[in-house]
Amino acid sequence: MLDELLTLDDCERVARERLPHMVYEFLAGAAGDEATMRWNRESYERIRLRPRVLEDVSTIDMRVTLFGDEHSLPLLLAPVAYQQLVHDDGEAGSARGAASGGVTFVMSTASNCAVEEIAASGAKLWLQLYLQNDRDVTRDLLARAEAAGVRALCLTVDTPVLGTRNRQARAKFALPPELPTPHLDVAGRDRLSIVSGRREAITWSDVDWLAATTKLPLLLKGILTGDDAARGLEHGAAGIVVSNHGARNLDTVPATIDALPEVVERIAGRVPILVDGGIRRGTDIVKAIARGASAVLIGRPYVYGLAAAGPEGVARVIAILREELETAMALLGCASLRELDARVLWDR
Ligand SMILES: Cc1cc2nc3c(=O)[nH]c(=O)nc-3n(C[C@H](O)[C@H](O)[C@H](O)COP(=O)(O)O)c2cc1C
Repeated sequence: MLDELLTLDDCERVARERLPHMVYEFLAGAAGDEATMRWNRESYERIRLRPRVLEDVSTIDMRVTLFGDEHSLPLLLAPVAYQQLVHDDGEAGSARGAASGGVTFVMSTASNCAVEEIAASGAKLWLQLYLQNDRDVTRDLLARAEAAGVRALCLTVDTPVLGTRNRQARAKFALPPELPTPHLDVAGRDRLSIVSGRREAITWSDVDWLAATTKLPLLLKGILTGDDAARGLEHGAAGIVVSNHGARNLDTVPATIDALPEVVERIAGRVPILVDGGIRRGTDIVKAIARGASAVLIGRPYVYGLAAAGPEGVARVIAILREELETAMALLGCASLRELDARVLWDR
Protein backbone atom coordinates (compact mmCIF):
# COMPACT_ATOMS: atom_id res chain seq x y z
CA MET A 1 0.00 0.00 0.00
CA LEU A 2 2.60 2.58 1.10
CA ASP A 3 4.67 2.14 -2.05
CA GLU A 4 1.60 3.02 -4.12
CA LEU A 5 1.70 6.47 -2.54
CA LEU A 6 4.16 8.40 -4.70
CA THR A 7 2.51 11.81 -4.60
CA LEU A 8 0.09 13.67 -2.36
CA ASP A 9 -2.57 13.27 -5.04
CA ASP A 10 -2.12 9.48 -4.78
CA CYS A 11 -2.99 9.75 -1.07
CA GLU A 12 -6.17 11.60 -1.93
CA ARG A 13 -7.18 8.97 -4.49
CA VAL A 14 -6.71 6.11 -2.01
CA ALA A 15 -8.47 8.05 0.76
CA ARG A 16 -11.41 8.72 -1.52
CA GLU A 17 -11.76 5.00 -2.24
CA ARG A 18 -11.71 4.17 1.46
CA LEU A 19 -13.78 6.87 3.10
CA PRO A 20 -17.55 7.13 3.33
CA HIS A 21 -18.79 9.65 0.75
CA MET A 22 -19.98 12.09 3.43
CA VAL A 23 -16.57 12.17 5.10
CA TYR A 24 -14.65 12.55 1.85
CA GLU A 25 -16.87 15.46 0.81
CA PHE A 26 -16.40 17.12 4.21
CA LEU A 27 -12.62 16.93 3.78
CA ALA A 28 -12.28 17.66 0.10
CA GLY A 29 -14.99 20.28 -0.21
CA ALA A 30 -14.72 24.03 0.15
CA ALA A 31 -17.09 27.00 0.14
CA GLY A 32 -19.53 28.14 -2.53
CA ASP A 33 -18.49 27.35 -6.08
CA GLU A 34 -14.98 26.47 -4.87
CA ALA A 35 -13.33 29.11 -7.07
CA THR A 36 -10.79 29.94 -4.38
CA MET A 37 -9.97 26.25 -3.94
CA ARG A 38 -9.16 25.98 -7.66
CA TRP A 39 -7.09 29.18 -7.51
CA ASN A 40 -5.13 27.89 -4.52
CA ARG A 41 -3.77 25.23 -6.89
CA GLU A 42 -3.72 27.11 -10.18
CA SER A 43 -1.69 29.98 -8.79
CA TYR A 44 1.12 27.64 -7.77
CA GLU A 45 1.04 25.97 -11.17
CA ARG A 46 1.35 29.30 -12.95
CA ILE A 47 4.52 30.33 -11.09
CA ARG A 48 7.56 29.26 -13.11
CA LEU A 49 10.96 28.51 -11.63
CA ARG A 50 14.35 29.86 -12.67
CA PRO A 51 17.19 27.37 -12.08
CA ARG A 52 20.92 28.09 -11.69
CA VAL A 53 23.36 25.38 -12.77
CA LEU A 54 26.74 24.25 -11.44
CA GLU A 55 26.14 25.44 -7.88
CA ASP A 56 27.40 23.21 -5.07
CA VAL A 57 24.32 21.32 -3.94
CA SER A 58 26.11 18.32 -2.43
CA THR A 59 24.33 19.04 0.85
CA ILE A 60 20.92 20.67 1.13
CA ASP A 61 19.92 22.42 4.35
CA MET A 62 16.15 22.61 4.79
CA ARG A 63 16.15 23.67 8.45
CA VAL A 64 14.31 26.71 9.72
CA THR A 65 14.10 28.20 13.22
CA LEU A 66 10.73 29.52 14.41
CA PHE A 67 10.34 31.11 17.86
CA GLY A 68 13.61 29.58 18.98
CA ASP A 69 12.75 26.03 17.88
CA GLU A 70 14.52 24.34 15.01
CA HIS A 71 12.32 22.61 12.41
CA SER A 72 13.95 20.02 10.13
CA LEU A 73 11.72 21.16 7.26
CA PRO A 74 9.79 24.39 6.60
CA LEU A 75 6.58 22.35 6.93
CA LEU A 76 3.95 21.89 9.65
CA LEU A 77 0.71 19.91 9.72
CA ALA A 78 -2.23 22.35 9.79
CA PRO A 79 -5.10 22.05 12.27
CA VAL A 80 -7.86 19.86 10.84
CA ALA A 81 -10.94 19.10 12.93
CA TYR A 82 -12.44 15.69 13.77
CA GLN A 83 -9.76 13.29 12.58
CA GLN A 84 -11.47 10.25 14.10
CA LEU A 85 -13.83 10.57 11.16
CA VAL A 86 -11.08 9.09 9.00
CA HIS A 87 -9.13 6.83 11.40
CA ASP A 88 -9.74 5.48 14.91
CA ASP A 89 -6.43 6.93 16.12
CA GLY A 90 -7.56 10.42 15.10
CA GLU A 91 -5.20 13.29 15.90
CA ALA A 92 -3.01 11.05 18.07
CA GLY A 93 -2.33 9.00 14.93
CA SER A 94 -1.48 12.05 12.84
CA ALA A 95 0.79 13.31 15.59
CA ARG A 96 2.64 9.97 15.60
CA GLY A 97 3.09 10.36 11.85
CA ALA A 98 4.35 13.92 12.40
CA ALA A 99 6.81 12.68 15.03
CA SER A 100 8.27 10.02 12.74
CA GLY A 101 8.30 12.47 9.82
CA GLY A 102 10.10 15.05 11.98
CA VAL A 103 7.62 17.93 11.70
CA THR A 104 5.38 19.87 14.09
CA PHE A 105 1.71 18.96 14.47
CA VAL A 106 -0.75 21.81 14.95
CA MET A 107 -3.74 20.36 16.79
CA SER A 108 -7.23 21.83 16.32
CA THR A 109 -9.44 22.95 19.19
CA ALA A 110 -12.01 20.78 17.42
CA SER A 111 -9.93 17.61 17.79
CA ASN A 112 -11.38 14.29 18.85
CA CYS A 113 -8.34 13.44 20.99
CA ALA A 114 -7.33 15.37 24.10
CA VAL A 115 -4.17 17.43 24.13
CA GLU A 116 -2.37 15.08 26.56
CA GLU A 117 -3.05 12.08 24.32
CA ILE A 118 -1.77 13.96 21.26
CA ALA A 119 1.32 15.13 23.15
CA ALA A 120 2.08 11.53 24.17
CA SER A 121 2.89 10.84 20.50
CA GLY A 122 6.19 12.64 21.04
CA ALA A 123 5.46 15.10 18.23
CA LYS A 124 6.37 18.74 18.58
CA LEU A 125 3.05 20.39 19.13
CA TRP A 126 1.32 23.70 18.46
CA LEU A 127 -2.31 24.40 19.36
CA GLN A 128 -4.92 26.09 17.15
CA LEU A 129 -7.48 28.03 19.14
CA TYR A 130 -11.10 28.77 18.47
CA LEU A 131 -12.22 31.17 21.17
CA GLN A 132 -15.42 30.00 22.79
CA ASN A 133 -17.99 32.04 24.63
CA ASP A 134 -16.96 30.51 27.91
CA ARG A 135 -13.47 31.93 28.52
CA ASP A 136 -12.88 29.33 31.26
CA VAL A 137 -12.93 26.62 28.59
CA THR A 138 -10.11 28.43 26.77
CA ARG A 139 -8.18 29.07 30.00
CA ASP A 140 -8.41 25.38 30.90
CA LEU A 141 -7.25 24.32 27.44
CA LEU A 142 -4.34 26.79 27.56
CA ALA A 143 -3.18 25.52 30.94
CA ARG A 144 -3.37 21.91 29.77
CA ALA A 145 -1.60 22.76 26.51
CA GLU A 146 1.24 24.55 28.28
CA ALA A 147 1.60 21.63 30.71
CA ALA A 148 1.68 19.20 27.77
CA GLY A 149 4.54 21.10 26.15
CA VAL A 150 2.73 22.98 23.37
CA ARG A 151 5.20 25.47 21.83
CA ALA A 152 2.96 28.04 20.09
CA LEU A 153 -0.67 29.06 19.57
CA CYS A 154 -2.52 29.80 16.33
CA LEU A 155 -5.66 31.82 16.93
CA THR A 156 -8.01 31.29 14.00
CA VAL A 157 -9.42 34.69 13.06
CA ASP A 158 -11.19 33.95 9.78
CA THR A 159 -14.20 32.03 11.07
CA PRO A 160 -16.74 34.27 12.84
CA VAL A 161 -19.18 32.01 11.03
CA LEU A 162 -18.66 28.91 8.91
CA GLY A 163 -18.56 29.45 5.14
CA THR A 164 -21.29 28.32 2.77
CA ARG A 165 -20.22 24.72 2.44
CA ASN A 166 -22.63 23.51 -0.18
CA ARG A 167 -20.69 20.38 -1.05
CA GLN A 168 -20.67 18.99 2.49
CA ALA A 169 -24.32 19.97 2.94
CA ARG A 170 -25.24 18.13 -0.26
CA ALA A 171 -23.48 15.04 1.09
CA LYS A 172 -25.53 15.46 4.31
CA PHE A 173 -22.43 15.78 6.45
CA ALA A 174 -23.16 15.59 10.16
CA LEU A 175 -20.76 15.02 13.02
CA PRO A 176 -21.53 11.57 14.50
CA PRO A 177 -22.79 12.24 18.04
CA GLU A 178 -20.51 9.57 19.54
CA LEU A 179 -17.30 11.34 18.43
CA PRO A 180 -15.77 13.14 21.41
CA THR A 181 -14.68 16.77 21.19
CA PRO A 182 -12.94 17.17 24.54
CA HIS A 183 -11.95 20.81 24.02
CA LEU A 184 -15.23 22.24 22.72
CA ASP A 185 -18.07 23.40 24.91
CA VAL A 186 -21.61 22.57 23.81
CA ALA A 187 -22.09 25.85 21.95
CA GLY A 188 -18.70 25.52 20.29
CA ARG A 189 -19.46 22.03 19.03
CA ASP A 190 -22.80 23.18 17.72
CA ARG A 191 -21.30 26.19 15.98
CA LEU A 192 -18.45 24.31 14.34
CA SER A 193 -20.05 21.00 13.46
CA ILE A 194 -23.14 22.00 11.55
CA VAL A 195 -24.05 24.78 9.16
CA SER A 196 -25.69 26.62 11.98
CA GLY A 197 -25.20 30.25 11.08
CA ARG A 198 -24.34 30.86 14.73
CA ARG A 199 -21.78 33.62 15.09
CA GLU A 200 -18.78 33.80 17.33
CA ALA A 201 -18.22 37.26 18.77
CA ILE A 202 -14.45 37.53 18.53
CA THR A 203 -12.74 40.86 17.92
CA TRP A 204 -9.34 42.53 18.33
CA SER A 205 -9.91 42.93 22.07
CA ASP A 206 -9.95 39.13 22.34
CA VAL A 207 -6.52 39.05 20.71
CA ASP A 208 -5.32 41.49 23.39
CA TRP A 209 -6.84 39.25 26.07
CA LEU A 210 -5.19 36.14 24.67
CA ALA A 211 -1.81 37.78 24.16
CA ALA A 212 -1.92 38.90 27.82
CA THR A 213 -3.13 35.48 29.04
CA THR A 214 -0.43 33.29 27.50
CA LYS A 215 3.35 33.30 27.47
CA LEU A 216 3.42 31.23 24.29
CA PRO A 217 4.07 32.89 20.91
CA LEU A 218 0.70 33.80 19.40
CA LEU A 219 0.12 33.53 15.65
CA LEU A 220 -3.00 34.81 13.91
CA LYS A 221 -4.24 32.27 11.38
CA GLY A 222 -6.44 33.34 8.51
CA ILE A 223 -5.06 36.74 7.51
CA LEU A 224 -5.05 37.77 3.84
CA THR A 225 -4.24 41.49 3.82
CA GLY A 226 -1.33 43.70 4.79
CA ASP A 227 -3.63 45.91 6.90
CA ASP A 228 -4.91 43.05 9.05
CA ALA A 229 -1.40 41.65 9.44
CA ALA A 230 -0.05 45.02 10.61
CA ARG A 231 -2.97 45.40 12.99
CA GLY A 232 -2.29 41.93 14.32
CA LEU A 233 1.23 42.95 15.29
CA GLU A 234 -0.11 45.98 17.17
CA HIS A 235 -2.29 43.56 19.15
CA GLY A 236 0.57 41.30 20.17
CA ALA A 237 0.83 38.72 17.39
CA ALA A 238 4.23 37.04 17.17
CA GLY A 239 3.49 35.53 13.75
CA ILE A 240 1.00 35.52 10.88
CA VAL A 241 -0.48 32.56 9.02
CA VAL A 242 -1.65 33.70 5.60
CA SER A 243 -4.59 31.37 5.04
CA ASN A 244 -8.01 31.26 3.43
CA HIS A 245 -8.95 28.25 5.57
CA GLY A 246 -8.38 25.88 2.68
CA ALA A 247 -10.96 27.91 0.70
CA ARG A 248 -13.68 26.74 3.10
CA ASN A 249 -14.93 30.11 4.29
CA LEU A 250 -15.27 33.04 1.86
CA ASP A 251 -15.32 31.93 -1.75
CA THR A 252 -13.57 34.16 -4.33
CA VAL A 253 -10.91 35.53 -1.97
CA PRO A 254 -7.51 35.19 -3.69
CA ALA A 255 -5.22 32.20 -3.58
CA THR A 256 -3.01 32.48 -0.50
CA ILE A 257 0.19 32.45 -2.58
CA ASP A 258 -1.13 35.60 -4.31
CA ALA A 259 -2.09 37.27 -1.01
CA LEU A 260 1.29 36.47 0.55
CA PRO A 261 3.46 39.22 -1.07
CA GLU A 262 1.29 42.06 0.29
CA VAL A 263 1.57 40.68 3.82
CA VAL A 264 5.30 40.06 3.47
CA GLU A 265 5.89 43.59 2.28
CA ARG A 266 3.88 45.12 5.09
CA ILE A 267 5.40 43.01 7.88
CA ALA A 268 8.92 43.61 6.53
CA GLY A 269 10.58 40.81 8.46
CA ARG A 270 9.32 41.80 11.93
CA VAL A 271 7.70 38.39 12.59
CA PRO A 272 7.62 35.05 10.75
CA ILE A 273 4.92 34.60 8.13
CA LEU A 274 3.56 31.14 7.36
CA VAL A 275 1.20 30.22 4.54
CA ASP A 276 -1.19 27.35 3.81
CA GLY A 277 -3.68 26.36 1.12
CA GLY A 278 -3.11 24.19 -1.94
CA ILE A 279 0.43 23.08 -1.17
CA ARG A 280 0.82 19.66 -2.79
CA ARG A 281 4.42 19.57 -4.12
CA GLY A 282 7.93 20.38 -2.98
CA THR A 283 8.02 23.00 -5.74
CA ASP A 284 5.03 24.71 -4.08
CA ILE A 285 7.05 25.02 -0.87
CA VAL A 286 9.93 26.55 -2.85
CA LYS A 287 7.56 29.16 -4.32
CA ALA A 288 6.02 30.07 -0.97
CA ILE A 289 9.46 30.57 0.56
CA ALA A 290 10.67 32.52 -2.47
CA ARG A 291 7.71 34.87 -1.97
CA GLY A 292 8.67 35.44 1.65
CA ALA A 293 7.10 32.72 3.80
CA SER A 294 9.23 31.20 6.57
CA ALA A 295 7.35 27.91 6.42
CA VAL A 296 4.17 26.34 5.06
CA LEU A 297 1.40 24.12 6.38
CA ILE A 298 -0.58 21.36 4.71
CA GLY A 299 -4.13 20.43 5.74
CA ARG A 300 -6.06 17.92 3.64
CA PRO A 301 -3.08 15.92 2.28
CA TYR A 302 -1.89 14.47 5.58
CA VAL A 303 -5.46 13.62 6.58
CA TYR A 304 -5.74 11.71 3.31
CA GLY A 305 -2.51 9.99 4.34
CA LEU A 306 -4.08 9.10 7.69
CA ALA A 307 -7.17 7.75 5.94
CA ALA A 308 -5.07 5.78 3.44
CA ALA A 309 -2.51 4.20 5.77
CA GLY A 310 -2.82 5.48 9.34
CA PRO A 311 0.17 7.17 11.04
CA GLU A 312 2.50 5.62 8.44
CA GLY A 313 0.48 7.32 5.73
CA VAL A 314 0.99 10.67 7.45
CA ALA A 315 4.74 10.01 7.71
CA ARG A 316 4.72 9.04 4.04
CA VAL A 317 3.15 12.39 3.04
CA ILE A 318 5.88 14.22 4.95
CA ALA A 319 8.61 12.06 3.42
CA ILE A 320 7.29 12.74 -0.09
CA LEU A 321 7.40 16.50 0.47
CA ARG A 322 10.83 16.30 2.12
CA GLU A 323 12.24 14.48 -0.87
CA GLU A 324 10.50 16.71 -3.40
CA LEU A 325 11.71 19.88 -1.69
CA GLU A 326 15.28 18.58 -1.49
CA THR A 327 15.22 17.59 -5.17
CA ALA A 328 13.74 20.93 -6.24
CA MET A 329 16.37 22.86 -4.28
CA ALA A 330 19.20 20.82 -5.79
CA LEU A 331 17.86 21.34 -9.31
CA LEU A 332 17.44 25.06 -8.67
CA GLY A 333 21.03 25.29 -7.46
CA CYS A 334 20.09 26.31 -3.91
CA ALA A 335 21.78 24.65 -0.94
CA SER A 336 19.76 26.35 1.81
CA LEU A 337 16.36 27.97 2.33
CA ARG A 338 18.03 31.40 2.57
CA GLU A 339 18.85 31.13 -1.13
CA LEU A 340 15.19 30.70 -2.05
CA ASP A 341 14.24 34.26 -2.90
CA ALA A 342 12.90 36.14 -5.92
CA ARG A 343 15.90 35.00 -7.94
CA VAL A 344 14.44 31.47 -8.22
CA LEU A 345 11.22 32.79 -9.78
CA TRP A 346 11.14 33.20 -13.56
CA ASP A 347 8.76 36.16 -13.49
CA ARG A 348 9.87 38.32 -10.58
C1 LIG B 1 -11.66 19.11 7.03
C2 LIG B 1 -10.94 20.36 7.46
C3 LIG B 1 -11.06 20.79 8.78
C4 LIG B 1 -10.38 21.95 9.20
N1 LIG B 1 -10.45 22.31 10.51
C5 LIG B 1 -9.79 23.42 10.93
C6 LIG B 1 -9.81 23.79 12.30
O1 LIG B 1 -10.38 23.10 13.13
N2 LIG B 1 -9.17 24.94 12.65
C7 LIG B 1 -8.50 25.71 11.74
O2 LIG B 1 -7.94 26.75 12.09
N3 LIG B 1 -8.44 25.35 10.44
C8 LIG B 1 -9.06 24.23 10.01
N4 LIG B 1 -8.97 23.87 8.70
C9 LIG B 1 -8.11 24.65 7.77
C10 LIG B 1 -6.68 24.12 7.76
O3 LIG B 1 -6.03 24.41 8.98
C11 LIG B 1 -5.83 24.74 6.64
O4 LIG B 1 -5.92 26.15 6.72
C12 LIG B 1 -6.23 24.28 5.23
O5 LIG B 1 -6.67 22.95 5.24
C13 LIG B 1 -5.04 24.43 4.31
O6 LIG B 1 -5.37 24.12 3.00
P1 LIG B 1 -5.07 22.68 2.32
O7 LIG B 1 -6.08 21.73 2.87
O8 LIG B 1 -5.28 22.97 0.87
O9 LIG B 1 -3.65 22.28 2.63
C14 LIG B 1 -9.61 22.70 8.27
C15 LIG B 1 -9.48 22.24 6.95
C16 LIG B 1 -10.12 21.08 6.55
C17 LIG B 1 -9.92 20.60 5.13
